[in-house]
Amino acid sequence: MESASRVVARRERVARAWAIDRGAVLVASGLPVPIAGTDQFHEFHAHPEFRYLAGVAEPASVLAFDPTEGWTLFVRLPSPDDRIWTGDGPDLDRLAARAALSPRPLEQLASWLETRRGEPLAVLGNHDLVDSPAGYLLPPFARFESAVDEELSARLSWVVAEARRAKDPDELTAMRRAAAASLAGHLLALRTARPGMTERQLQIELEAEFFRNGGDRTAYGSIVGSGPNGAILHFTPTRRELAPGDLVLIDAGAEVDGYASDVTRTFPAGPAFEGIQRDLYRLVYEVQQRAIAGARPGVEYRDLHLRACEQIAAGLVDLGILRGNPSDLVERDAHALFFPHGLGHLLGLATHDAGGCLRGRSPSDRFGLKWLRADLPLQPGYVVTIEPGIYFIPAILDDPGRRDAYRDVVDWDRVDALRDFGGIRIEDDVLITDGAPDVLTRDLPSAPEAVETLRAAAFAK
Ligand code: GLY
Ligand code: MN
Repeated sequence: MESASRVVARRERVARAWAIDRGAVLVASGLPVPIAGTDQFHEFHAHPEFRYLAGVAEPASVLAFDPTEGWTLFVRLPSPDDRIWTGDGPDLDRLAARAALSPRPLEQLASWLETRRGEPLAVLGNHDLVDSPAGYLLPPFARFESAVDEELSARLSWVVAEARRAKDPDELTAMRRAAAASLAGHLLALRTARPGMTERQLQIELEAEFFRNGGDRTAYGSIVGSGPNGAILHFTPTRRELAPGDLVLIDAGAEVDGYASDVTRTFPAGPAFEGIQRDLYRLVYEVQQRAIAGARPGVEYRDLHLRACEQIAAGLVDLGILRGNPSDLVERDAHALFFPHGLGHLLGLATHDAGGCLRGRSPSDRFGLKWLRADLPLQPGYVVTIEPGIYFIPAILDDPGRRDAYRDVVDWDRVDALRDFGGIRIEDDVLITDGAPDVLTRDLPSAPEAVETLRAAAFAK
């Protein structure tokens, strides 16, 4: 849980960097999202910009700022009917202590805006404040002779994203707790998965262990793919039963106090890797270890990614899947047939955290780079994932244009024989420090021998 002084320090830093001398800024937490056709709501996620600056995560709330008066927190208090169905709402003393601001009822936001009539107005956080002001008990903005200045809003939002990159000690505490909960869940899966279990059963056990170990919720939809399903990057677990000889790919993370962890392990459904599974697993493992060792201040994340691509291409050449010089293969994006996504991303209040690309840079449209979500020099305090993978993805490999374009460098017969292989990904969460990288998830085994030792133990019982 953030200490109030840290939240105050964040707001002061951000306000200084905003450098505005007039106008108003509203940071919206977001309105609960109805489940269409029902009278229920999706689980509420406060917008990370609101959570970061307010230190709390209340729905339908607004943190307001003006350069003369500073910060004011408006929260939605429950109506008498709400109190019957959903309880008494937030404890205002606790909110005040966490936010270091005395919360005011949301009903007062309209008059706060009224006194800033005609001034520049920026809206950050959830854009639903602009789309549905009534949800925040506001009339249309035109009533205040103000229009939301989208350009100003985007500039101020960038400042918040940049501030969020380096984590403060409270954020790191939450991230270490999230990593520990994830570790417990993944370890349970590694120790207990058996052929005959379904992906869904494995997901349930894994997530239950997250919660038993302090997780508040999952940071994103857990990915549990067995056999060919491991090739679908964001796969939703099904009733498919693990079969002997399958690989199982689990990409799942717990969230604590709003902070995500994001962890992937791949292991054999049986007691040991079989055939080319072992070679490809070792290759991914070695690529990941080298990338982690290289995650140092000043290093461009894009260079780490490109080095990983080249190492994957070289390994695939050694295994007879690709032909040619590894750097030429990367230049042609041939590695991306098997490793289409980026090496990783920033991690924090969002799983793919804000500010991943340096200001002025935008993702390339090259096949081998378009899903690279981090393109910036690393700095101490940043937390990034390092998650190389190798997959046999029918949606890529069956494409006639690609088969033709890469016919000179791919052994397509060999690739087609691996059509049902699925995929391998290994992902850890890495804090950049002044010295060696600090791997928050280091205690979760990933070396091939360690994975096989755990898997063999699962069958010895
Ligand atoms: N954990 C899912 C992803 O990073 O896309
Ligand atoms: Mn990830």
